[in-house]
Amino acid sequence: MSIRKCLFPAAGYGTRFLPATKAMPKEMMPIVSKPLIQYGVEEAMTAGMREIGIVTGRGKRAIEDHFDKSYELENQIAGTGKENLLAEITEIIARCRFSYTRQVEMLGLGHAILVGEGLVGNEPFGVILADDYCVASPDSVMQQMVKIYEKYQCSVVAVEEVSLSRVSRYGVIDGVERDGVFRVSSMVEKPRPESAPSQLAIIGRYILTPDIFEILRKISPVSGGELHITDALNVQARNGGVIGLKFSGSRFDCGGLDGFVAATNYTYDTLKMKSGV
Ligand code: UTP
Repeated sequence: MSIRKCLFPAAGYGTRFLPATKAMPKEMMPIVSKPLIQYGVEEAMTAGMREIGIVTGRGKRAIEDHFDKSYELENQIAGTGKENLLAEITEIIARCRFSYTRQVEMLGLGHAILVGEGLVGNEPFGVILADDYCVASPDSVMQQMVKIYEKYQCSVVAVEEVSLSRVSRYGVIDGVERDGVFRVSSMVEKPRPESAPSQLAIIGRYILTPDIFEILRKISPVSGGELHITDALNVQARNGGVIGLKFSGSRFDCGGLDGFVAATNYTYDTLKMKSGV
């Protein structure tokens, strides 16, 4: 069965971008002229996912407005040279179905995914964290992951090799490489460099089997009440249910300034090159 649904946890406060994110969702920050979350939805679509579930929170209404018609604006620019600027988003709205749910308390990524259960139901699904902006060709990162899911029929996490000094920002996997993928035996959330099982960090792309919801309901929250998705994935990994894919392509961590500026420069240069300017 192909994967139809993709969940976008987008409830986080985005405190690293304050004051920009005081009244505006981090996911709406533009890389050149397109908001981060639109790139994410486009990536989901390349992987055949047309049912888009977004976990939002307070102050995130702009996301819903973005994936909706804007009659006044469309009327205003109809017949002008600007019409084509809305072509991509119009096509996305026509081809996808969007549904939303709210995470009332920010209790971590695992909790946000559990809140999304009602949008997903009992089937495997993709997860995209829009602040990880991925560029890959010919297959998008999510397309590469779907191919792995089709082969192994279990959860898949996208991993990237990071320097030892950065492992403490990520979930880091332990596992053996076979046939070009990693059979994940366990993973550690934000390890200290000296205790990291590898330098393979999980980035914001997952394919999850639906048993993850039951696991998330059972695991204990960490201090502060947060539910870590890595704790739930660890349960699946113990049963051989998680594959790590070292994807081909580049990822920009747009949750922080450096990655955001690098993504902006990269995209601007690419667009300029394409338009021959
Ligand atoms: P981050 O921790 O990177 O996002 O969560 P943040 O909290 O928005 O950013 P900072 O650290 O304050 O700047 C990773 C992803 O998980 C989502 C976020 O929206 C982001 O896409 N998330 C995180 C939730 O949806 N709910 C949560 O409770 C936590």
